[in-house]
Amino acid sequence: MFESLKPVAMDPILGLMAAFRADTRTNKIDLGVGVYMNDLGLTPVMTSVKEAETQLMQLETTKSYQGIAGDPDYNQRILELLFGADHSILNSGRIKSIQTPGGSGALRVGAEVIQRARPEAKLWVGVPTWPNHIPLLGGAGFEIEEYPYYNRDSHQIETQAMLETLGQVPAGDMVLLHGCCHNPTGADLTHEQWDLIADLALERGFIPFIDTAYQGLGDGLDEDAYGLRMMAERLPELVVASSCSKNFGLYRERTGSITFIADSAEQADIVASQTMSVARQMYSMPPAHGALLVSLVLGDQQLRASWEAELTEVRERIQSMRSLLADNIRNNAAGIDFSHIKQQKGMFSFLGLNTAQLDQLREEYGVYIVSSSRVNLAGINSNNIGYLSDSILSVLK
Ligand code: LMR
Repeated sequence: MFESLKPVAMDPILGLMAAFRADTRTNKIDLGVGVYMNDLGLTPVMTSVKEAETQLMQLETTKSYQGIAGDPDYNQRILELLFGADHSILNSGRIKSIQTPGGSGALRVGAEVIQRARPEAKLWVGVPTWPNHIPLLGGAGFEIEEYPYYNRDSHQIETQAMLETLGQVPAGDMVLLHGCCHNPTGADLTHEQWDLIADLALERGFIPFIDTAYQGLGDGLDEDAYGLRMMAERLPELVVASSCSKNFGLYRERTGSITFIADSAEQADIVASQTMSVARQMYSMPPAHGALLVSLVLGDQQLRASWEAELTEVRERIQSMRSLLADNIRNNAAGIDFSHIKQQKGMFSFLGLNTAQLDQLREEYGVYIVSSSRVNLAGINSNNIGYLSDSILSVLK
């Protein structure tokens, strides 16, 4: 039966990650996949997470099944992290959340539930968006439509064009938004833009589907949640996919959540039952380890304080690498203005280099950047910044 299958090209981001690993040059630099690295170029387990892991070894008495929704404490603590412990939505009965295998698992479960509720709904995605959004969500059956998001020349959000397009989205369609630290552009919605999109959602009757994978890496844990907290207050329905890959450094533990806000508590109960049924059909139950660690960290005052301090360090280090890179390559022969990198948020920005320049960077200098010219600024450190800047300046000659 397999003779009918054709090989599929590897996902561009993960393909680049494999190529980087296979490169034997010692001065190679990975600005590809969105993984945080410290100033030594390493991705260590966070100290707070490691401490939770030590505690878990003592506390854990069984590996028996957990249940389709995962760990109830995790689910509650994630809701409090996302929306804030005092948010009125948390006691409304209208909100339901289950643990998922990572943020990607959350997106897919979300999409499958929406498909059950409204198979004719289209999904509107900003241009550009995380490339895997399209196969991941389109694979659930969504017809994908686009709205303008980012202008590569001005390095700004295309506010007017975005709002004009969203102003024509039919009732019942879904609009995908990035909660913070937009991937791949680093250009985040301002509070005003969030508010205007919420106005349109109310006016038109479309439903935002927020992907929030970087809470705490932009401006702070509360600041990065402005959009989803405001929408949870104002809108009757909302879907939020979230991930602990980046802010807890739990990448391979596949720790995420899907949250639905429904119009009424009765509807929310039905959505919860449908979500469990979707999860049961796809993977039965989520992996436990990462979520138990998150639950321990968030449930313990000391661990939480230590985690928040580590997250602040992560955020500030990325911000300082943004400034360092922009300053180092400011006086380039091509006259390109890189100052936008300083203003943007989270792990990513577009460098704006063309394919030939990116190929040259990879082949000649061992600098790995995905083909959209998206750079992961967390791959920069005090050791490689000089070599990296020189390499970029030389391909811009
Ligand atoms: C990225 O965008 O690099 C990360 O979210 C990793 C991935 O799965 O693509």
